[in-house]
Formats: sequence, C-alpha cells, structure tokens
Amino acid sequence: MNGNTNDVIIETHDLKKHYKGSTIKALNGVSLKIHRGEVVVIVGPSGSGKSTFLRSLNLLEMPTSGSIVFNGVDITDKKVNINRHRQKMGMVFQHFNLFPHMTVLKNLTSAPMKLLKLSKAEAEERAMQLLARVGLADRADSYPSTLSGGQKQRIAIARALAMNPEVMLFDEPTSALDPEMVGEVLDLMKELAAEGMTMVVVTHEMGFAREVADRIVFMSDGVVGADATPDEFFNNTENPRLRQFLDKIL
Ligand SMILES: Nc1ncnc2c1ncn2[C@@H]1O[C@H](COP(=O)(O)OP(=O)(O)O)[C@@H](O)[C@H]1O
Ligand SMILES: [Mg+2]
Repeated sequence: MNGNTNDVIIETHDLKKHYKGSTIKALNGVSLKIHRGEVVVIVGPSGSGKSTFLRSLNLLEMPTSGSIVFNGVDITDKKVNINRHRQKMGMVFQHFNLFPHMTVLKNLTSAPMKLLKLSKAEAEERAMQLLARVGLADRADSYPSTLSGGQKQRIAIARALAMNPEVMLFDEPTSALDPEMVGEVLDLMKELAAEGMTMVVVTHEMGFAREVADRIVFMSDGVVGADATPDEFFNNTENPRLRQFLDKIL
C-alpha cells in the first residue's frame, strides 16, 4: 500500500440498498474505508451484495440510505454533480461492455474527447500509449467482436484508464473468460496495483487476493463479515460463515 492510513479516498457509511420489489436488503449497512493506493479485494457468495456495493460506489446504483464520501465529498448528496466524480472511478465489468459498433481506438477515445474535452489527436495519442501498455497496439482498428475475451478485457481496462481515474473498480473481471485467458488479465491488474493504482476488486481468484490484496473483505447477506489482511483472512477460523465459504472455494 502506498498511501498512508489517513489518506482515505472512499469511505462508505452504513450503506443500505433495498431494490424495489425485493424483500431482502442487498446491502444492509456497509461501512468501509478505502485508502489511496490500496488494493481491496471483495469476496463472498453469490447474492451477498458484492456487485451492488461496487456499483453503488460510483452511483450506478443509488443506495437507499447511507453515504459515500469520495475525496472528501459526499457524492450521495443530491446537490453534487455525480458525473464529475464518477469520471474518476474507472469500472471494469465481467462482460467487458465494450461498444461493439466502435473500433478499439474509438472505444478508448470517445469518453476522453466527450468528457475530458481532449482533442482527437490528444485522445488518440493517449489511447495508443495505453494500447501499447496492454499489449494490443496492433488491434487499434479492430472491432471488439474480432477479439478474444482476454483481449476484450484488456481493452476494457485500457478504456477505463484513458479517463485517468483515481480508483479502478473491477466486478469479476475474469469470470467470463476461458481459463487460459485469466492470467493475462490478472497480470495486467497486478501491474496496475504495483504502480500504486487504488483498486477495489470483486473476484473469486483467491491466488490474486492472497498475492495482491492489501485487505480482503468478505461479504455475506449484505454486510461485511470480515475485513482482514490476506494472512489473517486465510487463517480466520473464528468466523463460521467465512470458514464455510473458504472450505467451498479453496
Ligand atoms: N436490479 C436488481 N433488482 C432486484 N434485486 C437485485 C438487483 N440486483 C441485485 N439484486 C439482488 O440483490 C442481492 C445482491 O446481489 P448482488 O449485489 O448482485 O450480489 P453478488 O454480486 O454478491 O452476487 C441479491 O439477492 C440479488 O438477487
Ligand atoms: Mg456480482
């Protein structure tokens, strides 16, 4: 971790989410601090609220109650211009969500031109640097449908980086990939972590969690069931829900 412990970039307070028409609380009071430069891995059974939490951080989901403080600003405050803050949080999804009708290059230049007001030349220069960075400069003119899953996800990561985010949010970035492509995406994520990017990663990749995470957060039933360093986490014998989860996946 590069930041010192006082340098909190995101802090949630008692976050709750109750989807309309649902009887359960997807989030039932999540209070969590994420420090600058930290890699926080979130694990937990399906339906425990991991995606809801991640999507709430940049208000893709509006929490029912509680607050999210990002760089000192409560972004759940109705008066706040969420777009300005959301731009600083890059999001990477399980299913890539690339724009299918745009070339790889256009996927990377469109938001920076529109939102950061970069010129086409500036945006393309930056895009080409990022494509080189993820090893796909030769695919700039390709359409997403012609790429492998691993390539698509590396492009999706490059697209998020093109906005110069302060935090990267990953929701199961390797879950939709064929096994032989998982490594190339995890390697890229490891590089980002080593460069000091603040990352919140929902994943089932326990090797990645053990190796890269500063903290592992275990969610169950919409609450944080454990929040620990990898060492503490994998040796936690006290928490029965966590034990049960680890016994299933390890
Ligand atoms: N759009 C939605 N509408 C209603 N319920 C939802 C919606 N999205 C998720 N849920 C429910 O909220 C709970 C948490 O889901 P989710 O955050 O997707 O969990 P996870 O990512 O850990 O699998 C689940 O019970 C799920 O069915
Ligand atoms: Mg999910």
